[in-house]
Amino acid sequence: MCGIVGYIGSRSAIPILVNGLERLEYRGYDSAGIACLNGQRESLFVVKEQGKLARLKEQLQGFDLHSRIGIGHTRWATHGVPSRDNAHPHQDASGRIALVHNGIIENYAVLKKELQRKGVKFHSETDTEVAANLIGHYYKNHSLEEAFRKAVLRLEGFFAFVVLSAEEPEKLIVFRRSNPLCLGIGEGENFIASDVTPLLEYTRRIIYLEDDEYGVVSRDKVVLRSLKTRKTVKRATVHIDWDISQAEKGGYPHFMIKEIHEQPQVLSAAIQKRLNRRGNVYFDTLSPGMDKKLKRIKNIYLVSCGTAYHAGMVGNYMMGKYARLPAEATVSSEFRYEDPILNKDDLVILITQSGETADTLAAMREAKQKGAMTLAVVNVVGSTIARESDAVVYTHAGPEIGVASTKAYTAQLATLAFLTLYLAQLKGTITKKELKRMIAELRKLPAAARKVLKQEAAIEKSARQHYHRRNFLYIGRGYNFPTALEGALKLKEITYAHAHGYAAGEMKHGPIALIDHEQLVICMAPRSRTYEKMLSNIEEIRARDGMIIAIGTEGDKRLEKLADEIFCIPKTEEVFSPILTVLPLQLFAYKIAVFNKRDVDQPRNLAKSVTVE
Ligand code: F6R
Repeated sequence: MCGIVGYIGSRSAIPILVNGLERLEYRGYDSAGIACLNGQRESLFVVKEQGKLARLKEQLQGFDLHSRIGIGHTRWATHGVPSRDNAHPHQDASGRIALVHNGIIENYAVLKKELQRKGVKFHSETDTEVAANLIGHYYKNHSLEEAFRKAVLRLEGFFAFVVLSAEEPEKLIVFRRSNPLCLGIGEGENFIASDVTPLLEYTRRIIYLEDDEYGVVSRDKVVLRSLKTRKTVKRATVHIDWDISQAEKGGYPHFMIKEIHEQPQVLSAAIQKRLNRRGNVYFDTLSPGMDKKLKRIKNIYLVSCGTAYHAGMVGNYMMGKYARLPAEATVSSEFRYEDPILNKDDLVILITQSGETADTLAAMREAKQKGAMTLAVVNVVGSTIARESDAVVYTHAGPEIGVASTKAYTAQLATLAFLTLYLAQLKGTITKKELKRMIAELRKLPAAARKVLKQEAAIEKSARQHYHRRNFLYIGRGYNFPTALEGALKLKEITYAHAHGYAAGEMKHGPIALIDHEQLVICMAPRSRTYEKMLSNIEEIRARDGMIIAIGTEGDKRLEKLADEIFCIPKTEEVFSPILTVLPLQLFAYKIAVFNKRDVDQPRNLAKSVTVE
């Protein structure tokens, strides 16, 4: 939520800032803005625009200020409507400083009143402008660094900032509390961004800021200090080896469709990384000490949001069946307020693509505080949840830019499958023979995924028939009940049509009343333990004139006869089927969104990384 960037060095700052914002636009796109030092006059040059970055870029055309320092922002609105006035950067009343912010300042109203009493006039509805003015207030009698410190010590909430002053043009001040911020270390230049994607084309040497640390960033140096004590903090750089081409569209019209087609590759990588030479499951990030703790675990909680929650639901079934452990999947925003009863025998698995989701982060901290062991299943290396959890396993999906999660989801499912087998191995709940068979099945998944995606043209044809509909129902059972939820989520978030996911067995307890000749029902019916039951549910829908798109297993003639349309997956182990059955649903949602001319990669009201609770 909100992307922030900064640059200091010897190159022209504006193109670097705009480029960075382009890469971060998935974090929010309600407005965008930049502030630079006007090279000749040492005054601030601020340009902001409501709407997407493209509008800001139009405004900036033809400007070359020879500025070597600047900050930028792309906004997902929290306080105040999306407008030019509410866009960042915000300045203090004197116009000497500019600030970009990601997060929420909880006590901003009290501080605003205090500043208003001192005669400060505000031009926006944002909490950010309060922070800018508070720093400005202390800046009257202190250096920028000290004024910043004094101001931030008075702020409550969770935020990341970058501050620029016209009077101290050789530095930027950065800070984070709970919201992400990282520094890219160059030669004679330094970069700042909410995540690493904008930094990777300039440098691979990254410093992650920790909570309540601020940094003074100049061209040749970065000094990190604790906000409270001012003590200098030493922090090594981390090398990030993500392939930058993965953050480009590579000839596809949208990131989402590119990422859908990357899934076979992502699965291959996930599989290779999880098997050692002897063919056993292993995780490079789990130490023998960690294994000992994992062996003692008695209960598992899988905690996550949105799509990652659906992965958690599948993980729940997997872990119960193969590791023989009681498992429970919960959404993060509920988990932490349930006052969960946890102790050292409990393992809390946090599943998150970004590693920054505020609710999941809060849930993790709650679990740790209660003495449970925390293990994060994360895509973004070095993200907050990855760093703060007791243990981490990475999903290795590469950067996911489309706001609707696709490849990160299947990578989460594959990682959870391996984690299940790993726990089963540790606890001795799986025989060697069975493990070998399961691994052999896992190895088939990349080719199987490739085969499923080949149905794209047929799925497009189907989407062309149905794209005008405003109401879709998805049903499934067992491992594919979460797939039904995920299919519905994908569709609603990028097409804005209403879509509902339901447990097929629950249809007769209410939702079957919806069925008539106009209702389209997408039925998850691959071969499984619940296949026959699923077929009965489909019959019941047919008997009431409902239209059926089935997702089944290749060669299933019975299902073919029952359904109006069918898309197939190759035969696979039931536990792994959600990795394949979700693929046609992703394509279906994508095609419907394209026919409706929706903004597929940046759907309205959403942001990729949800860093507010
Ligand atoms: C939906 C989607 C979201 C995320 C959710 C959690 O397509 O992407 O529902 O899954 O916001 O995000 P992470 O995984 O970053 O914690």
